[in-house]
Amino acid sequence: MAPFQGLRSSQPDLHEKLRQDPILETYSIYGFFPELYRRIYVDGAQPPMTMAGRGRGRVAMLEFEDRGLVVKPLQSCREGEVAAIGAEMGAGPMQYASLEGYLTEERVAGAFFTEMAPEDICDDSMYRAGAALGGILARLHRRRVYYNDATLSDPAGRSHLIIEPGGGCRLIDFGVSVLLDRHPVLERQDVYNFVRTLPMYRVLKRMGLKAHEMDRFLEEYAGKLARTSPEEIMSQDLRFAEEGLKMAAGRMGGRIVEPLASGFRDAYGS
Ligand SMILES: Nc1ncnc2c1ncn2[C@@H]1O[C@H](COP(=O)(O)OP(=O)(O)O)[C@@H](O)[C@H]1O
Ligand SMILES: [Mg+2]
Repeated sequence: MAPFQGLRSSQPDLHEKLRQDPILETYSIYGFFPELYRRIYVDGAQPPMTMAGRGRGRVAMLEFEDRGLVVKPLQSCREGEVAAIGAEMGAGPMQYASLEGYLTEERVAGAFFTEMAPEDICDDSMYRAGAALGGILARLHRRRVYYNDATLSDPAGRSHLIIEPGGGCRLIDFGVSVLLDRHPVLERQDVYNFVRTLPMYRVLKRMGLKAHEMDRFLEEYAGKLARTSPEEIMSQDLRFAEEGLKMAAGRMGGRIVEPLASGFRDAYGS
């Protein structure tokens, strides 16, 4: 009921109706999303719901009988546009009608790369994972999408690449991606997305920079990005992949490196 407290004084009748809604207790705001309302309120589905999410806040995952759906708050203004490009090219989850400020998307079934079962790790599966990631990044880059996040693994072993049961692979989470279609013009939000994945930014944040100092830093970085070609900016995704591969190898074994890198090179074309 918490998200609806504000209605208590402005719309008391609606507030009362919501207070008496037994479904709201279980599904909070999520039952009201276009893709979910009919299923939950009309058809009476009772999907198990789990919550995840770190950077962006609460990510709700609802497991319906035919498929899983995810509702997540947008992390940046253009995330919807980027996620739609990802969906269109089969690189990311399918996107559905949503409510303002949120994405509603397909829950991609499968295991994250770093959580693959040991018995599934072999030269062939690593080559295929590398080729899938290389292909996804090549297609995103052709559309001027800079993914800008850990793909295979971050230092804590979290991955954004899901290996699907049928052998496909998809990337999830375009929360810090930057669409470079207007480069060298970049919005402040794009610049912020760009710098927030830099180690330097984490150091500055830990130092406790004041708001105006951070503004100045972003301003200077905006100039730097405008002078850097989109190709060079996007090439940082290759470094994320390389670093992620090293981190994943620390957990999954050094033998994953060669076949995966080889698949990646073949598909990305570098
Ligand atoms: N489309 C999806 N399919 C499957 N799992 C998802 C999907 N979207 C989010 N998740 C799960 O929720 C977690 C957080 O979502 P994510 O979009 O990565 O947000 P954050 O910005 O908090 O990292 C992911 O690590 C993953 O476990
Ligand atoms: Mg994430």
